[in-house]
Amino acid sequence: MNLLITGGAGFIGSNFIRTILAKYPEDSVMNLDLLTYAGNLENLKEIENNSRYKFVKGDITDRSLVDSLMKDTGAVVHFAAETHVDRSVLDSGNFVRSNILGTYTLLESARQHGGKRFHHVSTDEVFGVVEGKPFDENTPYNPRSPYSASKAASDHLVRAYFHTFNLPITISNCANNYGPYCFPEKLIPLAITNLIEGKKVPVYGDGLQVRDWLHVIDHCSAIDTILRKGKIGETYCVGVRKQLPNIEIVRLILKALGKDESFIEFVKDRPGHDRHYAIDPSRVERELGWKSAIAFEEGIAQTVKWYVENAEWWRKVKSGEYREYYERQYGHR
Ligand SMILES: NC(=O)c1ccc[n+]([C@@H]2O[C@H](COP(=O)([O-])OP(=O)(O)OC[C@H]3O[C@@H](n4cnc5c(N)ncnc54)[C@H](O)[C@@H]3O)[C@@H](O)[C@H]2O)c1
Repeated sequence: MNLLITGGAGFIGSNFIRTILAKYPEDSVMNLDLLTYAGNLENLKEIENNSRYKFVKGDITDRSLVDSLMKDTGAVVHFAAETHVDRSVLDSGNFVRSNILGTYTLLESARQHGGKRFHHVSTDEVFGVVEGKPFDENTPYNPRSPYSASKAASDHLVRAYFHTFNLPITISNCANNYGPYCFPEKLIPLAITNLIEGKKVPVYGDGLQVRDWLHVIDHCSAIDTILRKGKIGETYCVGVRKQLPNIEIVRLILKALGKDESFIEFVKDRPGHDRHYAIDPSRVERELGWKSAIAFEEGIAQTVKWYVENAEWWRKVKSGEYREYYERQYGHR
């Protein structure tokens, strides 16, 4: 398959590209990414010279660029988005533009190029806060941050293109991801890297916000399964039934790095901070045979180890130096 991956220089997209190139020797990947603050080509250093991989710097809202890539595409896997809830509170404009207009541009192009297979990567945050049972495919939408509202709008558009134009789509809504190459603004990599640097870990409010943690490699295998075996028009919720409050995650990381609780710093909570997300992945397990392969305890230990061993990667991210990589690597081409 010839895949157009959007947002492939980000956390999950870069893990997905590596997974696909390793698993399918016949597949090739075109990675369209704007390289916002979250896009980092160093995530893909080891495959940048692979003949089955090509990077294109550009915006998913740029229709003529998207059209030029769509022509040769077998399927689209759409990761590109503004993703950091805190940033959506500070300034929602880019979230509306990339997440809604960008998704619309891709859908319209996919439709006008013969109806390309389209997988849309979305989040459990569109469902709001768990009330009673975990989220599943029938949970009503109730987004509460500008980020989740923009993702909800994109999900609705993707579904509308199936019902209105028969575009062969699937959607996945997944839990919080963790693992290698996660930008160190998010809780787990921020905690690990701050502790390695001898700094405190900021924890919002009382730290009792509960999340359902999914290893990024499990997420990639779920997307791959849905892309190849999923029922067209269908939505799948992806998670591993591992619910933990943020403060417990921080305690696990403190323990793994031999630090005590004096390294925790409670800070003012963010507005509209959802208290509880949880996913019921029964459909993707039952109908597509997908199963998680990485237990949380093993995954978090591996993740701490990865950040300890890859300090050069995250130090460049924290200092901003990673942004020079594109110029060095591609600037003269
Ligand atoms: N990280 C999570 O825990 C999580 C959980 C559920 C769902 N998701 C979804 O998965 C997808 C990927 O998330 P992530 O954590 O890898 O995000 P990320 O922020 O690490 O990466 C996003 C990538 O998209 C690119 N991008 C942003 N706007 C663009 C535009 N207009 N044109 C082209 N490229 C653009 C960025 O440069 C970046 O490389 C997102 O759609 C997100 O909503 C993430």
